[in-house]
Amino acid sequence: MPTALVTGSAGFIGFHCCQRLLQDGYDVVGLDAMTDYYDVSLKEARHAMLAEHATFRAVIGAVETPELMMSLMAETRPDVVIHLAAQAGVRYSIDNPRSYLESNLVGTFEVLEAARAFPPRHMLLASTSSAYGSNTDMPYRETQKADHQMSFYAATKKATENMAHSYAHLYDLPVTMFRFFTVYGPWGRPDMALFKFARAILADEPIEIYNHGEMKRDFTYIDDLVTAIRLLIDAIPPRPAAPPAATDRDGGGNGGGNGGGNGGGNGDSLSPVAPWRVVNIGNSQAVQLMDYIAALETALGRQAQKTFLPMQAGDVPATCADTTLLTKLTGFSPNTSVTEGVARFVDWYLPYASGGPR
Ligand SMILES: NC(=O)c1ccc[n+]([C@@H]2O[C@H](COP(=O)([O-])OP(=O)(O)OC[C@H]3O[C@@H](n4cnc5c(N)ncnc54)[C@H](O)[C@@H]3O)[C@@H](O)[C@H]2O)c1
Repeated sequence: MPTALVTGSAGFIGFHCCQRLLQDGYDVVGLDAMTDYYDVSLKEARHAMLAEHATFRAVIGAVETPELMMSLMAETRPDVVIHLAAQAGVRYSIDNPRSYLESNLVGTFEVLEAARAFPPRHMLLASTSSAYGSNTDMPYRETQKADHQMSFYAATKKATENMAHSYAHLYDLPVTMFRFFTVYGPWGRPDMALFKFARAILADEPIEIYNHGEMKRDFTYIDDLVTAIRLLIDAIPPRPAAPPAATDRDGGGNGGGNGGGNGGGNGDSLSPVAPWRVVNIGNSQAVQLMDYIAALETALGRQAQKTFLPMQAGDVPATCADTTLLTKLTGFSPNTSVTEGVARFVDWYLPYASGGPR
């Protein structure tokens, strides 16, 4: 049986990802520090469900601990590493940047170091649509330049893309970087809009809507996201062909002609020098925030009291993914509508919030 090491396994995406891998016959080692950024009991409940599988093993610890990462990789020798552990959240990074430095930068470094010592067949690491920063050219394509991040969270995630690229190049480690677009669904994150809105609406409290509701997001349903991750495991970035012999005897630099972006003209972000690529995982639909809220109101059968606020620092008004590359690599296009996905979230949330069956 293949073995996967999944970091952030008690998190929203890590939990669902582990579930899918276990169903598909993987041995899964899940590492999570159980940080208290949000309710730890939710993380414990997710790990408890994973522990029902005999082929799941939980390890509690922080990715930025070098000895832990090294011994875990030495002992488990995973075929695949899926690195999802991170300090997430755009808004929290404005007041608490240090935890992003430690979990995201130092943590990813230690994961890469351990993978250098015990190379897996494929490493897949979570980045974010926030990496596109101030870009307004929608839909976002992986080959666009993405140099102007708007929050420290996004800056750390973009930096991990570059760190992983250098490791892919120097140590011949195949790496796929995911850029996730606003993921939602059952067992979701309490700091994200859907969870916060559902809780407030049921408590008859107002919900806070930023940029006066003028926001669009490419909302991605968790099952679609996990299907994409699962398929990308087997889409290992190939090693680049040897570079053609130099013809520019005047040594005028590398030319390139792609404006500092990645890859060539075929829409693939594959690096010219390393088995590394970045792949958007989104639904490729920019949905108005007010329509997302309306879907939640319908599913809950209640109207929200709405407080409209200005744009938050570090945030962007819109995101939308071009998923041509994902479809080209996997044959799959995420397609769950917000109406359907929000209804499924509510089906989970209502019993969860009342402490009933999950
Ligand atoms: N949910 C989204 O919409 C979204 C969008 C873009 C990117 N991402 C990225 O996807 C990944 C998973 O996000 P999520 O939504 O599941 O978040 P999450 O907070 O639910 O999961 C992250 C998990 O990592 C753990 N963790 C944090 N720091 C750690 C550390 N230093 N060592 C070990 N474990 C640590 C946490 O305890 C948590 O269980 C993250 O890398 C996040 O940045 C998520």
